[in-house]
Formats: sequence, structure tokens, C-alpha cells
Amino acid sequence: MWRALAAAAAAVAVAVVVAARPAAATDPYAFFDWDVGYVTAAPLGVKQQVIGINGKFPGPTVNISTNWNVVVNVLNDLDEPLLITWNGIQHRKNCWQDGVLGTNCPIPSGWNWTYEFQVKDQIGSFFYFPSTGLQRAAGGYGGVVVNNRDVIAVPFGRPDGDITIFIGDWYNKNHTDLRKMLDSGKDLGMPDGVLINGKGPYRYNDSLVPAGIEYETINVDPGKTYRIRVHNVGTSTSLNFRIQGHNMVLVETEGSYTTQQNYTNLDVHVGQSYSFLVTTDQNASSDYYVVASARMVNDTVWRRVAGVAVLRYSNSGGGPARSPTLPRTSSTSPSP
Ligand SMILES: *[C@@H]1O[C@H](CO)[C@@H](O)[C@H](O)[C@H]1NC(C)=O
Ligand SMILES: *[C@@H]1O[C@H](CO)[C@@H](O)[C@H](O)[C@H]1NC(C)=O
Ligand SMILES: *[C@@H]1O[C@H](CO)[C@@H](O)[C@H](O)[C@H]1NC(C)=O
Ligand SMILES: *[C@@H]1O[C@H](CO)[C@@H](O)[C@H](O)[C@H]1NC(C)=O
Ligand SMILES: *[C@@H]1O[C@H](CO)[C@@H](O)[C@H](O)[C@H]1NC(C)=O
Ligand SMILES: *[C@@H]1O[C@H](CO)[C@@H](O)[C@H](O)[C@H]1NC(C)=O
Ligand SMILES: *[C@@H]1O[C@H](CO)[C@@H](O)[C@H](O)[C@H]1NC(C)=O
Repeated sequence: MWRALAAAAAAVAVAVVVAARPAAATDPYAFFDWDVGYVTAAPLGVKQQVIGINGKFPGPTVNISTNWNVVVNVLNDLDEPLLITWNGIQHRKNCWQDGVLGTNCPIPSGWNWTYEFQVKDQIGSFFYFPSTGLQRAAGGYGGVVVNNRDVIAVPFGRPDGDITIFIGDWYNKNHTDLRKMLDSGKDLGMPDGVLINGKGPYRYNDSLVPAGIEYETINVDPGKTYRIRVHNVGTSTSLNFRIQGHNMVLVETEGSYTTQQNYTNLDVHVGQSYSFLVTTDQNASSDYYVVASARMVNDTVWRRVAGVAVLRYSNSGGGPARSPTLPRTSSTSPSP
């Protein structure tokens, strides 16, 4: 009955509530209710069970500000234990809610657990994910954005928009099958592709990408500067990230500000998060490819391991991307 109650509670309360509690009047609380369960999806054309949060894959973004207390009530609707980690977030005055084995117990199937921690002195981009059983290969991840309070300055102007992009290798085998392979000493082999925000590639090449795959479109307005947060949520593949025809100014990685530098492309390794400022200063007569392709592998063999989304200007004619071929990977170095 208790489980039914928890499920009902999770179903109604999805919105974030921010409230100041009398006990800590200065530090606000953000409450989240998550129901973590399987969702059927076919990102690369093969139907499989992926891990969604409140029915969404990827999960919702935890959008909070420094000093906030974060309270996440997680109901495990999977058929196996679940443990969620807030990777890279230092938990103030708390050493046992970081969601990894050893400090935290997994939530048994059908049960709920409430994580509670305060975010402090780390302003930037992170992501959460299930930390055991290779579940991340099935999803269960989402963004954590820690904003600055107004009294704290950030070393760049306020962007006109904020866009989160998850890139990651993907297998058509589900995580329980992948786990069996590893347990029996087999290598996972080459992934079946790369997802961008949980979706397969735009059909940039008819022989590499089957018809009918849903791809991600990133909508922008011309003449603006966006903060684009890129997370590699995959299992094992380093990915080169680039946006056709656009410079990306690197400004932040996992809560640390970097030397600001222009890149045409950058390698994002598994688990890494970066913020780039991207100015929409190109001709809107066509769309542009957003690409994440396998790195440090044999490009001929790994051709299919590429995620392709579309960047579309609001004043665009909606024409296809200018060049039928993907922008090339070049070595990771600042553009001149
Ligand atoms: C994974 O796929 C196998 C069949 O290959 C199936 O038996 C199993 O139930 C699936 N697991 C999940 C979680 O979908
Ligand atoms: C995230 O929170 C910040 C600060 O409270 C707010 O300005 C911004 O609009 C929020 N973003 C989203 C996507 O809700
Ligand atoms: C489980 O969820 C219920 C309903 O939201 C809540 O009252 C209870 O405190 C939660 N239990 C744990 C251990 O988090
Ligand atoms: C599409 O991919 C195939 C197989 O890798 C390749 O032979 C062909 O040249 C590609 N076509 C284009 C237009 O890039
Ligand atoms: C990045 O390149 C653009 C266009 O060339 C230039 O306007 C801008 O100042 C550069 N930014 C940095 C931080 O180098
Ligand atoms: C944009 O591209 C179109 C088609 O190539 C061209 O006709 C137009 O002049 C370009 N506009 C600008 C501002 O460069
Ligand atoms: C990449 O793989 C192809 C096909 O197996 C092979 O012919 C080629 O020599 C490989 N290239 C490198 C650099 O190993």
C-alpha cells in the first residue's frame, strides 16, 4: 500500500517547489519527485526498454542555484535495484548521499528513497545517472545546472539562452544483455551508434542511417549567444563534438571556469561536461549539423558511430544542411 501511495505522490508532484523553511531561512529548498521506470523507445530503429524519469528519456534537468538544498524523492519502478549519483557535486556536510556503492545502498525495486544535499561553491554543468548495473547504458541520466546567485559574478555575459546536449554511444542490446556479456568476459564491441538527447542521427547518409529515425532539432534565433552544455553520457566512446560553421568558445567544465578559447571542435570523453558559448552569426538559409563522432578509433570501421542533430535558425527556410557530408573532425586545437 505504501508503494502505491508513493507512486501516486510521484505521479502528481512533478513540478519543482522552492520554499524557504523556517529552520534555514536563507537557503531555499528545491523538491523533486521522480518515478524511475522503463519506457519503450527505438532511438536507432530497434525497440528496447530504456530508463526514463517520469516517463522522459533523458530525464529532467535539475536547475538549481548555489546554496540551495536539493531534495529528490526517487521511486524505483525498475525490476532491479537503482542507485542515482550526482556526479561531481560536492555534498556539503554530507558524505553519504552521493549515490555510489559503499556510501549509499541501492533502492530496492518498488521502493523509494529521498536524496538530500546542498549545492555549494560549484557553479556550472553536471549530470546525474544510475551508478550501478550498467544502467546508464539504458538511460536514467539528466542534467544538473547549478546557477550563480545574483551576488556572484560569472566571467562572461549572460547568454541569451541555455541549451543542454547529451551525447553518448548507444547499443541496440539492452543493459541486462550488455551486463551478461561483460560478466562472461566478452567485450561490448563497437556501439551501434551515438545518440544526441536520446535520439538517433539525422539521415545524413542513406546507407548509414535507416529511414524513419527520430532526430534532435535544436532551435535557435539569429544573432544570439547561447550557452551550450555538452555532456558525454555514454559507456566507453570518446566523442568529437562540433557544430557546422560555428565557433564554440569554451568557458566552463564541471563547475570550473576555463581559459576562454575558440574551438571548431572538441573531444568530450565519457563522463565529461563542458559549456560553450555559441553565437548564431551564420547565414540562416540552411540548417547546420551538430555532430558527435567516435574518436581515437579506425574512422572507416566506426563510421556508423556518429550522432547527428540539426541546428535550425528561426528565420531559416528549413533547407537541409548546406553540405551533405559531415564537417570533418580535425585535431583538437583552437581555431586560428
Ligand atoms: C533485455 O533483452 C533480453 C532479450 O535479449 C530480455 O530477455 C530482457 O528482458 C531485456 N531486459 C530489459 C530490461 O529490457
Ligand atoms: C533555471 O533557473 C534559473 C535561475 O533561477 C532561471 O533563470 C532559468 O530560467 C531556469 N531555466 C530553466 C530552463 O528553467
Ligand atoms: C517515499 O515517498 C513518500 C511519498 O512521497 C514519502 O512520504 C516518504 O518519505 C518516502 N520515503 C523515503 C524513504 O524517502
Ligand atoms: C555514405 O556511407 C557509405 C558507407 O560508409 C559511403 O560509401 C558513402 O560514400 C557515403 N555517402 C556520402 C554521400 O557520404
Ligand atoms: C572567437 O572567435 C570569434 C570570431 O572569430 C571572435 O569574434 C571572438 O572574439 C573569439 N573569442 C575568443 C574568446 O577568442
Ligand atoms: C545566404 O545564402 C544564400 C544562399 O547561398 C545567399 O543567396 C545569400 O546571399 C546569403 N546571405 C548572406 C547574408 O550571406
Ligand atoms: C581501418 O580499417 C580498415 C578496414 O578494416 C583497414 O583497411 C585499414 O587499414 C584500417 N586503418 C588503420 C589506420 O588501421
